[in-house]
Amino acid sequence: MQAQRACVDEVARLGLADGAPVLELGLGNGRTYDHLRDRFEGHPIFVFDRQVAAHPDCIPAGSHLRLGDFRQTIPVFLAAHRGEVGFIHADVGSANKAKSIALANVLAPSLSDLLVAGGYLACDQPIQLEDLVRIAIPGGDYCGCYHFYRRAG
Ligand SMILES: C[S@@+](CC[C@H](N)C(=O)[O-])C[C@H]1O[C@@H](n2cnc3c(N)ncnc32)[C@H](O)[C@@H]1O
Repeated sequence: MQAQRACVDEVARLGLADGAPVLELGLGNGRTYDHLRDRFEGHPIFVFDRQVAAHPDCIPAGSHLRLGDFRQTIPVFLAAHRGEVGFIHADVGSANKAKSIALANVLAPSLSDLLVAGGYLACDQPIQLEDLVRIAIPGGDYCGCYHFYRRAG
């Protein structure tokens, strides 16, 4: 959680282009969504999950919620928002580590295509993709539990 917050806070410190969308993959209980909306006021935040199981105060408006499997909802979003997104926070992990890494890497090309050049991705899984260049997490690597990237270009 510290690593996750460090990534989010670093992107907020560096700043995004005016109005650049922010994506949250994995609403969960809404904790990170709450942090994102605090740090990225003025930016639309689109949230993806297969279900809503968050605290009632942390549920996005329906217009900014995309329900379903990431493997279906992300390509649909990409068709309308290629190269527009400033920051993606992808917290997609489950108890099965191998499946979680595989899921993140299946999504990675679409996530990269969603990002504006120089846009940021913070993910709970390691990603191997040439266009996504690993960058340091401020404050250390926090035991390697989080992964921070910048889109090349
Ligand atoms: C680790 S939790 C996210 C925690 C969240 N960031 C928070 O602050 O509570 C992962 C979330 O991803 C969702 N998820 C996992 N795999 C998914 C998939 N293939 N499609 C859609 N949602 C998925 C789960 O439903 C779960 O809510």
